[in-house]
Amino acid sequence: MEKHGFLISFEGGEGCGKSTQVKRFLQYLEEREIDFLFTREPGGTEVGEKIRDILLHDKSDLSANTEFLLFSASRSKLVEDVIRPALREGKVVVLDRYFDSSFAYQGFGGGMNLATIEKITELAIGEDLKTKKSPQSAVPKLTFLLDLSYDAGMKRKSADEKLKNLDRIESKEKTYHERVRAGYLNLSKKFDDRFCVIDASQSVDTVFENIRREFEKRYDG
Ligand code: TYD
Repeated sequence: MEKHGFLISFEGGEGCGKSTQVKRFLQYLEEREIDFLFTREPGGTEVGEKIRDILLHDKSDLSANTEFLLFSASRSKLVEDVIRPALREGKVVVLDRYFDSSFAYQGFGGGMNLATIEKITELAIGEDLKTKKSPQSAVPKLTFLLDLSYDAGMKRKSADEKLKNLDRIESKEKTYHERVRAGYLNLSKKFDDRFCVIDASQSVDTVFENIRREFEKRYDG
């Protein structure tokens, strides 16, 4: 029987606990001996990591358009070189952020036109976002949104890092991040077939239990 890949993305605002949950999830996949590939955005390829450095650490002021085009260039390379080959091999592909981040951050947060983001995203991933998906589609089958208020997220962040170490995007103002959160919730309603929203103010164990349960419900590998 032909193997089917299974693409999962993790999304959420600053300090939502995404990295912790991704780590737990990868551990769980390992324990279940499920063949997986993990990668992150921006980054995940040599070119992508260079772009990541510009996006997170460049001192110049980048417009939402410029940011988005850089994210998209990194995304295009990642889909071609990493995501599609892994899906063809039937792997579970786990992504720490993906194109929903662009809709939430550059679109809802930065005010960039959503239809434009959609068009360029389709170019970057080589697929239409609206048509019916093939089993090997580079559109996620499941997207976990870890939802948390800006204040709670920043409180968590400042507990484990010094606030002065915030990167270029993290240090944007509160209202920007509030638009990002509202944007994510908007996306989760529009794409309710793949989005699973989890209240990230709960304990690490409870959040993970939600993730595991949802994955087991949907993954048929
Ligand atoms: P990262 O250090 O990976 O942070 P996090 O742990 O929050 O995922 O930084 C990624 C940053 O890039 C994060 O602030 C969100 C932002 N981002 C966008 O603005 N647009 C995008 O399309 C992507 C993929 C990320």
